[in-house]
Amino acid sequence: MIENYKNKILQGDCLELFKNIPDNSVDMTFADPPFNLKKGYNSYKDSLQVQEYIKWCETWISEMVRVTKPTGSIFLHNIPKWLTFYAAHLNTIADFKHWISWDAPTAPMGKTLQPGHYGILFYAKNAKELKFYEIRYPHKRERKSKYLAKDYGGKKGLLHPFGPLVSDVWTDIHRMKHNKYRDDHPCQLPLHLLERLILMTTDENDIVLDPFNGTGTTALAAKRLGRNYIGFELDKDYVEITENKLLQEEPNSKIGDFWVSFYLDNVVTIRNNDWDGLKNYYYVPLKPEEIDKQQIILQKNISISTPLKSFSDLKKECKLPDLFEEYDTKIIYKSSI
Ligand SMILES: C[S@@+](CC[C@H](N)C(=O)[O-])C[C@H]1O[C@@H](n2cnc3c(N)ncnc32)[C@H](O)[C@@H]1O
Repeated sequence: MIENYKNKILQGDCLELFKNIPDNSVDMTFADPPFNLKKGYNSYKDSLQVQEYIKWCETWISEMVRVTKPTGSIFLHNIPKWLTFYAAHLNTIADFKHWISWDAPTAPMGKTLQPGHYGILFYAKNAKELKFYEIRYPHKRERKSKYLAKDYGGKKGLLHPFGPLVSDVWTDIHRMKHNKYRDDHPCQLPLHLLERLILMTTDENDIVLDPFNGTGTTALAAKRLGRNYIGFELDKDYVEITENKLLQEEPNSKIGDFWVSFYLDNVVTIRNNDWDGLKNYYYVPLKPEEIDKQQIILQKNISISTPLKSFSDLKKECKLPDLFEEYDTKIIYKSSI
């Protein structure tokens, strides 16, 4: 019964632990396995022979597909070299959706092109039944002028106030460099990377499974977004770190009734469908073309229980630029980019 494993981080070998998980029982599986690059994990030697590594990967990838529901999605994070083998195997048992290119410097591989991205393979268990939500990220702006970095030319009247739809190239999420945010683990992923994937393919109360939990980025992201998690991890210290972090998290990555992903104080991913409700929590210029020079502003102190405030209260709370003075916050858009 899947209920017995919900919201647990299980210590052990993922291939053993998978045996407990019924077929077609989870909504999303995500794996960030050891990359066979001799990383210093506590309990795992990260240096197998190539054929041995590939065979091992194919075994747990098949398990990921087996346990995923027909509506569910399968994500695999790795360097492109290994993803080419993963894709060849996955193409025989699931439906390809995307190769997401996550722009981030990776380990140099000798005298060749400098590696500039990690890949995240996105497969559907069954493309016809896949659950998928379009997502948006904030417009990129010039650091000083705050004007939009991209020139939309004559199409500024169609600008979406929040930002563009997310493509398969992700340049706005950075790897974790600062030690103060990191656990004692050699390759922890940023939380908002996982939150983006979860918002894109699951609903509240769905189940997200990660067979290589590490220090729990996937489980934490799932909990923050009101989803259930299951994590497998070989190392007991990493399990303990995860459990301690989970105790401090609440399912509250939300604005009003809408699940969103935050990075520091900024919302970095929303679902397209939610904008009609979310826009009530922002100051938004009335004319879409003004988005070119003025970013939308989130009300201060937003949390689950924050009621909508009147425009005059909001005006008192934060100094609004001129553009907003004559506008109300509830505005209809015809935007598409
Ligand atoms: C790349 S890390 C995952 C990091 C994780 N995404 C995070 O953000 O914390 C891979 C993890 O897989 C674990 N691991 C290696 N072999 C395993 C196995 N056979 N079963 C379960 N976990 C394993 C390692 O201990 C390591 O923590």
